[in-house]
Amino acid sequence: MKPLAFLLAAAAAFGADPPAKVTLPTSRADLERGKKLYQSNCSLCHGANGDGGRGAVLAGRKLARAADDAALLKVIEEGVRGTEMPGAWQLSAGEARQVAAFVRTLGRVSSKPVPGDPTHGADLYARNNCAACHTIRGQGGSTGPDLSDAGLRRNPGYLRTSLTDPEAEAPRSYQWVSLRTPAGDAITGTRLNEDSFSIQIRDPSGNVHSFWKHEISDLKKDRGKSTMPSYKQLSSADLDDLVAYLSSLKEAL
Ligand code: HEC
Ligand code: HEC
Repeated sequence: MKPLAFLLAAAAAFGADPPAKVTLPTSRADLERGKKLYQSNCSLCHGANGDGGRGAVLAGRKLARAADDAALLKVIEEGVRGTEMPGAWQLSAGEARQVAAFVRTLGRVSSKPVPGDPTHGADLYARNNCAACHTIRGQGGSTGPDLSDAGLRRNPGYLRTSLTDPEAEAPRSYQWVSLRTPAGDAITGTRLNEDSFSIQIRDPSGNVHSFWKHEISDLKKDRGKSTMPSYKQLSSADLDDLVAYLSSLKEAL
């Protein structure tokens, strides 16, 4: 047996198939097409230049969930379970590669610095008792989303609106739903994802549940209701400081 064939046979014997290598297209035409597809399928959440919003900031940083091109393609095609990141089932395999190639070019745009004093922001976070509802690095409540990586998932503009006008962001993201499980239990939580066949919700203790719609009953939704209080009354400088603090939270996944 030749050495290479032997190695391949050995790898197969251990079930250690080398991960399929993904090559992203690089031609100008592919990138142009990727950009168009990005604009119509992704920019709503990730911003026209990848500076984030409802979705993660994609520009100017290493992508935690997409360290290599194979992982990036998988995130795009399948989404991130339990989050608002949907799988792009509408794209063909070739289109997904074009979008991925375009996303890689976003990596070279640097994101703008955030004004404000993060240290004072941390102080405001403590004084306003945000931790009653939010967790940072394992500390705090779970009525609201974990903010440990808020700076990676959300851009400063989105964070500021979440503080001053929570209802504006609430209807699409944190919709409260109640339903009866297949076992007959009533549960309430916030909706993470929903399609024609399934729904994923997070209950107040932070557990994520996934159901097939045909198995549940009494599905009720409360559009626009938010338990996140508005902090409009804070001064503009204090809001800047809070946003600077939240933007600095970039705990690796
Ligand atoms: C409905 C909003 C939404 C849409 C549409 C959307 N995303 Fe996302 N995306 C998100 C959110 C939210 C996250 C962060 C998930 C998490 O919590 O890790 C994310 C995460 C990602 C990540 C991982 C980032 C990281 O840190 O590793 C990539 C890459 C990505 N999206 C690319 C895309 C592309 C490309 C498209 C279009 C084909 C797209 N997304 C469409 C909301 C969206
Ligand atoms: C009574 C509970 C409660 C308190 C107190 C609270 N929040 Fe929230 N917060 C929530 C909930 C629930 C959400 C989810 C969105 C919604 O329902 O509007 C949220 C959403 C957010 C978001 C958006 C996160 C995302 O990824 O979409 C940020 C940022 C945020 N809160 C920051 C804060 C800060 C900073 C404070 C303190 C000044 C605070 N919250 C106080 C419950 C709370």
